[in-house]
Amino acid sequence: MEKKFKRTLVTSALPYANGPVHIGHLAGVYVPADIYVRYLRLKGEDVLFIGGSDEHGVPVTIRAKKEGITPQDVVDRYHKIIKDSFEGFGISFDVYSRTTSNTHKELASDFFRKLYDNDKFVQLESEQYYDEGEQQFLTDRNIRGECPRCHAPEAYGDQCEKCGATLSPDELINPYNADSGNPLVKRKTTHWYLPLDQYQPWLEEWILGDHKEWRSNVYGQCKSWLDAGLRPRAVTRDLNWGIPVPVEGAEGKVLYVWFDAPIGYISNTKELLPDTWEQWWKSEDTRLVHFIGKDNIVFHCIVFPTMLKAHGDYILPDNVPSNEFLNLEDDKISTSRNWAVWLNEYLVDFPGKQDVLRYVLTANAPETKDNNFTWKDFQARNNNELVAVYGNFVNRALVLTKKYFDGKVPAVGTLTDYDNAIIEEFVNVKSEVEKLLDQFKFREAQKEAMNLARIGNRYLAETEPWKLAKTDLERVATILNLSLQLVANLATAFEPFLPFSSKKLRQMLNYPQFCWENLGRTDLLAEGHELGETGLLFEKIEDDAIQAQLDRLDRIKKENEAASYKANPIRPECTFDDFLKLDIRVGTVLECTKVPKADKLLQFKIDDGIGTRTILSGIAKHFKPEELVGKQVCFIANFPPRTMRGIVSEGMILSAEDNEGKLSLLTVEPTAKPGSEIK
Ligand code: 2FM
Ligand code: ZN
Repeated sequence: MEKKFKRTLVTSALPYANGPVHIGHLAGVYVPADIYVRYLRLKGEDVLFIGGSDEHGVPVTIRAKKEGITPQDVVDRYHKIIKDSFEGFGISFDVYSRTTSNTHKELASDFFRKLYDNDKFVQLESEQYYDEGEQQFLTDRNIRGECPRCHAPEAYGDQCEKCGATLSPDELINPYNADSGNPLVKRKTTHWYLPLDQYQPWLEEWILGDHKEWRSNVYGQCKSWLDAGLRPRAVTRDLNWGIPVPVEGAEGKVLYVWFDAPIGYISNTKELLPDTWEQWWKSEDTRLVHFIGKDNIVFHCIVFPTMLKAHGDYILPDNVPSNEFLNLEDDKISTSRNWAVWLNEYLVDFPGKQDVLRYVLTANAPETKDNNFTWKDFQARNNNELVAVYGNFVNRALVLTKKYFDGKVPAVGTLTDYDNAIIEEFVNVKSEVEKLLDQFKFREAQKEAMNLARIGNRYLAETEPWKLAKTDLERVATILNLSLQLVANLATAFEPFLPFSSKKLRQMLNYPQFCWENLGRTDLLAEGHELGETGLLFEKIEDDAIQAQLDRLDRIKKENEAASYKANPIRPECTFDDFLKLDIRVGTVLECTKVPKADKLLQFKIDDGIGTRTILSGIAKHFKPEELVGKQVCFIANFPPRTMRGIVSEGMILSAEDNEGKLSLLTVEPTAKPGSEIK
């Protein structure tokens, strides 16, 4: 850390309190943030770790409605579950509060008011959809209607899940309220906007110029937002769940959840330190670091800094380490599909094994790209690394000391060249781990820490003290002394990563306190120091425990498949005459290319038996165009021509869609001639 900073303020994204937290949250945000904070604390630095629940936003109201309870009931329930889960995993927040606290409501409200009073917002009137029956404006997600592209009946106001089109509510045919089913009308409404466009030059200089050291995924995402040009963003909403907009004439309006949530970092600090919080937020010698997931980058790097800048009193983030996503068994983690390992359930299924999950998630941390969690890998890393390497070394060193020296640290004698070589190796590990942690490279840092245990195992395997006990007890004493010093080093080096095991190990060593600066030393345990009770640091995980988890996921997959079949029922009866209206033909793909600037569209040139025809199809995400050339496809030949992106499309290529939205092209035997009718 550069000298100019006296203290570090670490925040971790406030999870939405509309469901429990899962391994994706832990891997992406909370374990890395916790490792970092624990490391700084061990170094004796002044550090604060802020967490809390994000309790506003539409998803909370949707869940409340579904369950027939109030939004406050929803967030009360999940705030507790989430808080307990984090505690269970040793995420060492200095404060974990919530955005429904009075401190937060007041601070967020004052923040808005200051920006308002200083003319930092622009006020714009627009027409939005309104449900007259329910007397409410609707968010894009709450509006449904017919898709203007594929005519699916239940497209969302922001996207059609059937054809993948990005939509705006205005494009939907016959829009209606997804909850009440009522048709919608347009009504004028006023909102306040943060004029990000006005801050664009400043943001370009601050991010692209001054923060080239940010992770490339973060820097890259900011750059593409800035390259596309920023636009004003509404920071208020017509909703009844949230913090009321503190301005006359704003009745029925609340702060947008992404306006109030990041202010939660400030209010939670204030709640913890009512007298000194400002030192942490308003003093240039505080270093602010936000740990987040990749879907939060724009809010933490562009929107929130603009809010802070507009306010004027606050410091800006120095770094925003953001992770990519973690998949589960090669599939995207999804709350709605229950495809997740829930932390509260893990704590019940694997009691006392919090560090195993911490270890595995860090070993597979999605730091530079999306990564995958599998139960088999979880088991292998536990059995082959934690048990066989770390645990095994510790156990041998402690048990041998009990056996030959009555559990007291033996005296070190003359060191051999080999001893010195080993010492040199593990002394180097300290600076290596430090360098990596300072760069937020947690995965590699943990690997280096594990390397210490490998060194220890190698040392015992090479020197074989158990064979020397009868002939050269003095040599055994030296070997075990060095080994125990290594164990004490391991306990310290692993404290940020595996705090539960380090605590256990500290008790086994009867070692009072860790201090990062002592890492690499060979005199941590004095001669004659009495060790504590020895036990196993890690235990093997058996196949049946893993199988139970895999069975659970299998069950969920089957349930999801069944649900998705229900969601995609057989359509109403269709007569033969109806069918005959469709002219379905075989065509040979002569050319297939991507349409420039349209990420979903492929342009086909088809031999239709009479000539060539052009067909556009929104399936670019599913196929590589070059692989489709030469295929015999089926297409509808008698749809009226449609123009998209200035290209006339004469038909529709048919494909089969499975329950997960995966497409396969409908093809026929190569013997079928182009132009053949399908009937
Ligand atoms: O993506 C999310 O889960 C948000 N609730 C994160 C908010 S972070 C901060 F702004 F509070
Ligand atoms: Zn559609």
